[in-house]
Amino acid sequence: MSPAVFIDALQDELQSIKYGQSPPELYDPIQYIMNLGGKRMRPLLTLMGAYLFTDDWQKAIRPALGVEVFHNFTLMHDDIMDQAPLRRGQPTVHEKWNGNVAILSGDVMLVNAYQLLLNVEADKLAPVLARFSRTAAEVCEGQQMDMNFETRWDVSEAEYIDMIRLKTSVLLGYALELGGLIGGADEEITRHLYEGGMNIGIGFQLKDDLLDVYGDPAKFGKQVGGDIIANKKTFLLIEALAQAKGSIRDELTDWLTRTEFDKPEKVRAVTAIYDQLGIRQLTEARINEYFVRGFANFDQVNADANRKTLLIQFARQLVERES
Ligand code: IPE
Ligand code: IPE
Ligand code: MG
Ligand code: MG
Ligand code: MG
Repeated sequence: MSPAVFIDALQDELQSIKYGQSPPELYDPIQYIMNLGGKRMRPLLTLMGAYLFTDDWQKAIRPALGVEVFHNFTLMHDDIMDQAPLRRGQPTVHEKWNGNVAILSGDVMLVNAYQLLLNVEADKLAPVLARFSRTAAEVCEGQQMDMNFETRWDVSEAEYIDMIRLKTSVLLGYALELGGLIGGADEEITRHLYEGGMNIGIGFQLKDDLLDVYGDPAKFGKQVGGDIIANKKTFLLIEALAQAKGSIRDELTDWLTRTEFDKPEKVRAVTAIYDQLGIRQLTEARINEYFVRGFANFDQVNADANRKTLLIQFARQLVERES
């Protein structure tokens, strides 16, 4: 089995989903964002999770797409909150239409996500929806913490990790857990899958923070430097604040407290400070640490070795990704 088979299956099924038709301002943005592509990492994790325990992984396709639709809903609203101009190399929904359209289209996507998740066997419905609801609430909790941190200067590394655990990692954990549940894995194994997805999710968000500074604009598909412009308390900024001394510290503080600035100039200056402090290497080391933890969780999962290798190789690519 190759990942391309899973990707094709997801793509085929995506084309058949009916989100709704009228009014077009409500539904066109859904088609738009869903057709912008993306890595489709979460539904792939669900399919790979199911395939660990069943040959009938196709039964996980629609619920897997429920997770992807939910993810895209969070991106639509996240882009309003982060005032982001670009998503997957194209204008964000609130830029192309407007903020109200992005709010309401996002809302109906959450409903669509639930509808897709209903496509599981009757005895799995309650755990699938209960775990999803908890996860969705946690993503919102993490997103609010992310916003609260923009205006705080004393965010600790532990608080940051907790924030990204909620805004990003729990959904990766859930995506894998969902695959396990649908595939028929027992409770202990689904817990290891969830923990593995969580650890990889933390490494994944650390990598996202890194790419936000050091990504190639042609490949990243989002505005490089957006986190610096918004004073996001990323791992990079928290480490820089912990390490900067003397004149470098004064310069960093100056950039973080200016109310008027030239955006590219601020991005260049803060990036230069990160360079001087070796923040990039530090972040890369931390990313690896969390991926290693995730792989240790997968070691505990008793399943076919080849099928597990597929999952582990897929996760490895996420460390090296450029978008
Ligand atoms: C972006 O997620 C939001 C984060 C949690 C960092 P992805 O990097 O998975 O975005 P797409 O779906 O591939 O575009
Ligand atoms: C957002 O984190 C995670 C979500 C829950 C959407 P970011 O704000 O860093 O995601 P990007 O970089 O805009 O994709
Ligand atoms: Mg955000
Ligand atoms: Mg964002
Ligand atoms: Mg980001």
